[in-house]
Parts: sequence; C-alpha cells; structure tokens
Amino acid sequence: MNDGRSVLLAVGGGIAAYKSAFLCSRLVQCGYEVRVAMTHSASEFIGASTLAALSGKPVAREVFNTDRHPLGPHIELAEDVDLMVVAPATANLMAKFACGVADDLISNLFLQVTSPVLIAPAMSSAMWQKPSVQRNVTQLSEDGCHFVGPETGWLSCRVSGEGRMSEPEDILAAAEELLNR
Ligand SMILES: Cc1cc2nc3c(=O)[nH]c(=O)nc-3n(C[C@H](O)[C@H](O)[C@H](O)COP(=O)(O)O)c2cc1C
Repeated sequence: MNDGRSVLLAVGGGIAAYKSAFLCSRLVQCGYEVRVAMTHSASEFIGASTLAALSGKPVAREVFNTDRHPLGPHIELAEDVDLMVVAPATANLMAKFACGVADDLISNLFLQVTSPVLIAPAMSSAMWQKPSVQRNVTQLSEDGCHFVGPETGWLSCRVSGEGRMSEPEDILAAAEELLNR
C-alpha cells in the first residue's frame, strides 16, 4: 500500500518520547519504511531497543558511525526520505532547526533531508509560551516546516495547559496528509 515510501522518525528528549513508540508502530503498520533517529536525551525517556524492534531497523543516535554508515548517518538516513517527522520536537531541537545548528544527528538530518518536515512540539506551557520558542516556530513555519499541535491538555508537570504533544494517531493523519499531497 505504502511500500517503498520512507518516513524518518526523529525522536527528541521530552517525556512524550514514549508516544513515539506507538507512532513508529502505526507508521510501520501503514506500510512505510520507518527509519528512527533519536537524541541522547531521548534515550532517557525511551529505549532504543523498543524503537529498533518496532521499526525493524537499528536506531541511529550518533553523528559518526563509520562501521554502519561510512558516508555519515545524516547522509545515508536522509536518502530518499519521503517525510521527516520530529516527534516529540523539543524546544532545543526547534531552536537548532531555526538557526541551522548541526551539532547532533537529528539537527544534521534536518539540514540534509529534501522532503517535507512535520514537527510535533511537546513541552511545558511555560516553555511553549516563551517568546524565543514562538519566534523559532514562526521562523520554521516561514521556512516551510509543517506543524501538528501542540494541544492543550494534561502535562507531565501536573498541570493542564498548552504544550501537550498531539496524539500519535493525529500525527499519523498529518503525516499521511503530507505524504499523499
Ligand atoms: C523529566 C524531563 C522532561 C522533559 N520534557 C521536555 C519536554 O517535554 N520538552 C522539551 O522541550 N524539553 C523537555 N525536557 C528538557 C530536555 O530534555 C532538554 O532540553 C534536552 O536538552 C533536550 O535535548 P534534545 O533536544 O537533544 O532531545 C525535559 C527534561 C526532563 C528532565
């Protein structure tokens, strides 16, 4: 059905990273080839083994991996990608994307992919409302990135507010909308 189409799932270091496992599984069930990259912070929230098993591929974390990716993981994993999905997108990752910083694998991949990019932010309301974060969101929208969420709802800091990552099914729907354009 979607055989041969590739989604690069980039997982940032927020509490919502646990939901990226479900998103990964749903993308696989929909027939996409899913390549997963995660930040070191994301490893604090979800194990690489979970994402590797669900995607059926090794999970990439390092900028340098000459044994597996002699050309560089950021080159090989970005090749022929139909969509990059960043979920959860941390304030830190969005700041790097907005400024062109490339000091970890995901920020390098962001610069390398030629596909559309779908960003699913997740953070506390205080972080989300910070002028710097909003500036970066505006910049990334102007740069052509697509956003899904964040939603208003229960946050892990034990309050309700804006900043909750969209549910995996909603991210999947937004991803498919872009993939089918
Ligand atoms: C328990 C906990 C939860 C966190 N949740 C978030 C979050 O939801 N969003 C966010 O932007 N940062 C969150 N952070 C902070 C990030 O982990 C931190 O900014 C980190 O540097 C992000 O790294 P990365 O962007 O490379 O993944 C959290 C930190 C902790 C300790």
